[in-house]
Amino acid sequence: MNTSLRTHTCGELRMEHVGQEVTLCGWVQRSRDLGYILFVDLRDRYGITQISLKSQEQEELYNQARKLGREFVVSITGTVAERESKNPNIPTGEVELIPASMTILNESVLPPFMIEDETDGLEDIRMQYRYLDIRRPKMTQNLLVRAQAAKAARTYLDSHGFAEIETPFFIKSTPEGARDFLVPSRLHHGTFYALPQSPQILKQLLMVAGMDRYYQIVKCFRDEDFRGDRQPEFTQIDCEMSFVEQKDILNLFEGMTKHVFKDVLDVDLPDFIRMPYSDAIKYYGTDKPDLRFDCKIVDLNEVMGGTEFSVFNSLLESDGLIAGIVAKGCAGYTRKQLDKLTAFVKEPHRGGTGLVYVKCNEDGTFKSSVDKFFSQEKLKEVCEFAGAEPGDVLLIVADKLHRKTRNILGDLRLHLGKTENWIDEDKWSVFWVVDFPLFEEDEETGDLTFAHHPFCMPREEDLEYLYSDPQRVRAQSYDMVMNGNEIVSGSIRVHKKDVQDKIFDILGLSPEEKEAKFGFMLKAFEYGAPPHGGCAFGLDRFVMLLTGESSIRDVIAFPKTAGGRDLMMDAPAGVPGDNLDELGIKLSE
Ligand code: AMO
Repeated sequence: MNTSLRTHTCGELRMEHVGQEVTLCGWVQRSRDLGYILFVDLRDRYGITQISLKSQEQEELYNQARKLGREFVVSITGTVAERESKNPNIPTGEVELIPASMTILNESVLPPFMIEDETDGLEDIRMQYRYLDIRRPKMTQNLLVRAQAAKAARTYLDSHGFAEIETPFFIKSTPEGARDFLVPSRLHHGTFYALPQSPQILKQLLMVAGMDRYYQIVKCFRDEDFRGDRQPEFTQIDCEMSFVEQKDILNLFEGMTKHVFKDVLDVDLPDFIRMPYSDAIKYYGTDKPDLRFDCKIVDLNEVMGGTEFSVFNSLLESDGLIAGIVAKGCAGYTRKQLDKLTAFVKEPHRGGTGLVYVKCNEDGTFKSSVDKFFSQEKLKEVCEFAGAEPGDVLLIVADKLHRKTRNILGDLRLHLGKTENWIDEDKWSVFWVVDFPLFEEDEETGDLTFAHHPFCMPREEDLEYLYSDPQRVRAQSYDMVMNGNEIVSGSIRVHKKDVQDKIFDILGLSPEEKEAKFGFMLKAFEYGAPPHGGCAFGLDRFVMLLTGESSIRDVIAFPKTAGGRDLMMDAPAGVPGDNLDELGIKLSE
């Protein structure tokens, strides 16, 4: 790393360098003046090295160094020495630099927050001064891990014959279920490019073009509501292959994930299980379960009959679902704790009507919120059926809608996993969920919409239902789930024009809409489209997990805030009227 200005980096010096004369460049992280000795921590991307100056021995330099402010950029030449009191917490902690000369390369005004891992800067201010935030070792490290993960993925893909091909950003909509970001055309007033929600259609057209084994580390743009794991622009490792079946893709990208884990974390992941979507929903109430802890949803309908509890009885009559999870070792929950869980279940977006509990006491008795209607024998039967043992509490949710019951229990399971520390943070849960449905019902309109995107191939044995019972059709599609996060999505694609046509019909596209939106694609399919399939990794989410962060913002150099703003540049921003005139755009009041 030596250059004309430095011999070593601030992360490089060790005992073997003692006695050598070196020059370091970096930023003053902090200095501590003890009166007779002054310590300066000098930081760069590679690490921190301690500079040590004794007032009596180096009076002039000492006085110069006392004037160094935080984040001044300096060059220091001196001799490497063994430290008297060593710091085992940093790689350079055994040595220090005794300076012979020092040059201030640039000064800095006082930074608005501490540039250290434990910073006093709140997120907004860190975003506004992101270039300072990135100087914090933790942030620096996150970006380096990101670079390493991308490099490991590239190495793997290159070694498996993939070619990186760029696709354009100014295109027509490629739908992934979000709104498009639009770019107005200056030359053709009233028309707009859409930024790609993913390169989905383009990579499929590359397969039609014969470019088997494509990949691209690429930005995608989606105008959707923000969450901790979503950004309006984010990065995919996007891949597509020809002449493959689902198992080929699952094997290859399982291999890539293992390769990245080994390279970045030195972790050997075990082989991935392949869980049908229907099982994920049945047992975990979600299509992205966290399997770092046990605890499955148990259906209880068959053991709930024969009581006086009218709520359950009417649900049994109307084919509703009564189900529960066993909270191991939680029979000691207080009234307050159980009330909190009930409130959790009832939160408006979950919409649960209540939570029934059955405590399995250590003395063999049972205590339940529905004691009035359930005898001790019945409670025993229910608990035994659910697999609850003395010391456990069985938490029961019931609703007319099966999916709602399962979703609520899935949320409750995860909530308890986190609050009860059931999750082993040293463990990894990485596996495939397969056989997603092709369509799902839009919650607001009740219309059928695509579950993933409209280009997924139905499973061979379900093809016939495409015409009779579309909701029954399972797709040849799959997600990779990592610690409860969806990291990869993909599918075998439709490559036959008639099937693609039919799917667009089911989605309610008129012939005109079909032609306007996807005519070019359907036309391409008339020219010998090969069987093909692929997937895309969400790189930001992947790196978030590799670095142990809880927000993807912490692994992106210049992310948007939760409100979709770039606080550093102050974007989005208004533009001068002239610019709008050129585009033929008039703003409404
Ligand atoms: P999908 O829409 O599931 O599939 O996206 C693939 C992966 O990208 C990540 N991701 C996001 N990351 C951050 N912010 C977002 N707003 C965001 N949206 C998605 C997720 C997700 O698993 N074309 C298909 C892939 C294919 O079928 O090949 C697609 O884009 O980790």
